[in-house]
Amino acid sequence: MNIAIGSDHGGYELKDALRRRLEEQGHQLMDAGCFGEAVDYPGIAVKVAALVTGGEAAFGILCCGTGIGISIAANKVKGIRAALCADCYSARMAKEHNNANIIAFGGRTVGVEHAWEMVRAYMAAEHLGGVHARRTAQIDAL
Ligand code: RB5
Repeated sequence: MNIAIGSDHGGYELKDALRRRLEEQGHQLMDAGCFGEAVDYPGIAVKVAALVTGGEAAFGILCCGTGIGISIAANKVKGIRAALCADCYSARMAKEHNNANIIAFGGRTVGVEHAWEMVRAYMAAEHLGGVHARRTAQIDAL
């Protein structure tokens, strides 16, 4: 699966750990940076969002210090539904109910193992459609 990934300096270590784990599982990672240097997170969010909305990536992963700024920025891009996740139930619901196409994490708020479990929960889930698709369509029309 093609997966877009990106972070600022606050989420770099988590981003790199998730990238390596996904690559070990045979996924193709499209890394929009950063690579450890200090960057402003909106630019990274837009790069990952473009890979997702353009169809190059099946979904995206974004990390910053808290996951807040980078998810807010991604959600400004038309067609993006970015979910900031802090627990596995929310990660699963992000797909089942919200059909999130980006999941975001805080590199300073969650550990690698916990984030990895959330990625796995999101990737194992399926969007349920039905009333949830109606609601995400309403979001997309905003
Ligand atoms: C960078 O210091 C920090 O503000 C950023 O990573 C993020 O937490 C913003 O929401």
